[in-house]
Amino acid sequence: AAKPIQIKVVLLGEAAVGKSSLVLRFVNDEFQDNKEPTIGAAFLTQKVRLDDSVLKLDIWDTAGQERFHSLAPMYYRNAQAAVVVYDITRASSLDRAKSWIKELQRQANPNIVIALVGNKLDLAGDNDDSTSAAVDDSAGAEDTTVDADDAAETEGRSRQIASATASAYAEEAGLLFLETSAKTGQGVVETFTEIAKKLDLN
Ligand code: GTP
Ligand code: MG
Repeated sequence: AAKPIQIKVVLLGEAAVGKSSLVLRFVNDEFQDNKEPTIGAAFLTQKVRLDDSVLKLDIWDTAGQERFHSLAPMYYRNAQAAVVVYDITRASSLDRAKSWIKELQRQANPNIVIALVGNKLDLAGDNDDSTSAAVDDSAGAEDTTVDADDAAETEGRSRQIASATASAYAEEAGLLFLETSAKTGQGVVETFTEIAKKLDLN
């Protein structure tokens, strides 16, 4: 078989949105309820099969806490792809994702493939039952600062960011867009497969 094509992928996003959990699901098909915050960054690899080719993804899972922000360029430099993650139950995290995307568009490889990923889809609490009561998420909407312990607290949370809002932004900015749950695995393999498909491998 041909030698796998090596691809550098970086994960970016606010603390506790679930970057490490997405990678853990993708690489080991596991989930941890109380995953500890990443310090600096973590490195993992996983292969993706695509028609005739195999891609080996070298995945840099960065730390979302602001004190690690200055390290990020080391990890997105030369990256062919970026997964910018927000938490669909936390409005501030989409703003943070947008600022990461601006930074990537200014500073990263101009051909970088970027996927905007809304994680924690299992907490959405939305379904097709139009009779279900509207959820009052006003308390959550006031959160502006996030500390890791707070953000990891998922009890009682529900969707704050509509799919349509995020997907309209992603389309405008030329990004892939997916919603995922690291907890159930929904959308996780698809995220990395969609990235692989969009990469120019010639
Ligand atoms: P930093 O490393 O600090 O930047 O955080 P992170 O983005 O890597 O988040 P992490 O994967 O550590 O997840 C934070 C918390 O959210 C953990 O308690 C996870 O168990 C939880 N979590 C992650 N993904 C999901 C998900 O899809 N659904 C639910 N319900 N919880 C999740
Ligand atoms: Mg992490």
